[in-house]
Amino acid sequence: MPSFQPLTRDVEADAVVVGGGIAGLTTAYLLAREGQRVVLLERDEIGSGETTRSSAQLTASLDFRYYELAGIHGEQRTRLIAQSHTQAVDEIERIVRDEGIACDWTRIPSFLFAPPDQQEDLARELAAMQSAGLDVGMVGPPAGTRDLGPCIRLEQQAAFHPVLYLQGLARAAQRLGAQIYTQSLVTSYDASEVLTEGGARVRARHVVLATNVPVADRVKFSFRLEPFRTYMVTLDLTDALEPGHYWDTVDPYHYVRLDGNALLVGGEDHVVGRADDAEERYGRLEAWARERFPVGQRREAWSGQVENTPDGLAYIGESGGVYVVTGDVGNGLTHGTIGGRVIRDLILGRENAWVDLYDANRLPRGNRLEWIKEGISAAGHLGEWVTGGDDLSDLAPGEGAVVRHGLKKLAVYRDDQGTLHARTARCPHFGCVVHWNTGEKSWDCPCHGSRFTAFGELLHGPARVGLAVEELGQDAQSPG
Ligand SMILES: Cc1cc2nc3c(=O)[nH]c(=O)nc-3n(C[C@H](O)[C@H](O)[C@H](O)COP(=O)(O)OP(=O)(O)OC[C@H]3O[C@@H](n4cnc5c(N)ncnc54)[C@H](O)[C@@H]3O)c2cc1C
Ligand code: FES
Repeated sequence: MPSFQPLTRDVEADAVVVGGGIAGLTTAYLLAREGQRVVLLERDEIGSGETTRSSAQLTASLDFRYYELAGIHGEQRTRLIAQSHTQAVDEIERIVRDEGIACDWTRIPSFLFAPPDQQEDLARELAAMQSAGLDVGMVGPPAGTRDLGPCIRLEQQAAFHPVLYLQGLARAAQRLGAQIYTQSLVTSYDASEVLTEGGARVRARHVVLATNVPVADRVKFSFRLEPFRTYMVTLDLTDALEPGHYWDTVDPYHYVRLDGNALLVGGEDHVVGRADDAEERYGRLEAWARERFPVGQRREAWSGQVENTPDGLAYIGESGGVYVVTGDVGNGLTHGTIGGRVIRDLILGRENAWVDLYDANRLPRGNRLEWIKEGISAAGHLGEWVTGGDDLSDLAPGEGAVVRHGLKKLAVYRDDQGTLHARTARCPHFGCVVHWNTGEKSWDCPCHGSRFTAFGELLHGPARVGLAVEELGQDAQSPG
């Protein structure tokens, strides 16, 4: 990434954008291109968030089936949904071309397939995608695959390298006059000002929060988002395979992206903080891919976070005097790009046909019963305060455990040298007890998806601060 400095003095701008992922950088770039004075503030470095963990499939084939979207939003709006994602892919292509960004941009089709007992759903999805105006047809299994059965082929989708794209976008925004500051954590904001941890302020006519989940949100978005961990492995490709993105229709679903001589295989999602079995999930992804694609050795494995909404659409637009982009539903590269366009048009007072669709204040329809059940289940985690804790004596170096300490529960991490580090286990957002994530070595909150490093520093909101330091008694400090 190009390097930037922290913000150390007060500045003024037309718009201040918080967050250096695809949503923030696209918004900053599009506004700067219109001659707006833009300041972008990033907590860590550009690309420190979910964008660079992505499999980078740029597609209008969405996590929700189109027949589900038509049931929730109606046919006319569903055509707008398909149009917005298709145009987001075109917008990225335009930016890549106009700015000469070398990011392995390529146009490829998407293939959606289903297990034998879900073939009726596949036919239903084909009809719904056609009604939504997408260029689709049913085809036989693509060359190089095994037992996929018939597939819906969606033409003219795309892929790129997300790190290279963000680099190019940051340079282009900077060239157009946007000021980018990194290592500049935003701790509070109102409609005309944001304040950084170091005390420097940006005064602006417009404030945009593109922080994946809004900073310092207690209730406005947390209860309309459901955070999921999602897993990915890359495997060597051992034989020819028809280029494309591949998805199945099972729940939790699997997806595949061909990238040179590697296959990226993702899925096995679960609600954040509600499972701690990353290695098994990586293994299941690998086994699933071996049955269907010509693959060899595993190269890499990682996980990331996506934020679902009940109706399959992101929340984009003005809310409480600031602009937000959140709720990626696993299609955050296109949602983030749509976000940039919608917010640019709202700020410039231009018409935009997608404003109502993505309204950030809407109470989503969709499967409300599921969401009520989910809310009750999240609230159940508050009850963990009264249960017992783990035993520290068998805590291995590099691992964490939640232990009871008098009336408190502590999140205790034993570092590689054997020293214990204790933090409160109480999530600063709403007080649920955090859980240890062995795969990522982090503390994850099962209620609304906040995450913290092993040492308690904030990794992912909606919490605004890290886990407070606690003292452990001398007894506990002796090596286990
Ligand atoms: C494994 C995986 C695979 C995926 N695959 C796809 C895919 O194929 N296609 C697709 O469309 N989407 C995909 N997604 C989703 C997509 O990558 C994300 O939704 C999208 O990149 C989110 O972009 P963003 O800009 O909203 O957030 P981020 O990229 O997370 O950027 C937010 C930034 O805000 C910064 N920030 C946070 N708080 C503050 C603060 N207080 N002050 C200053 N800065 C702050 C963070 O450091 C971060 O850099 C995938 C996600 C994962 C995890
Ligand atoms: S994220 Fe809401 S309580 Fe932890």
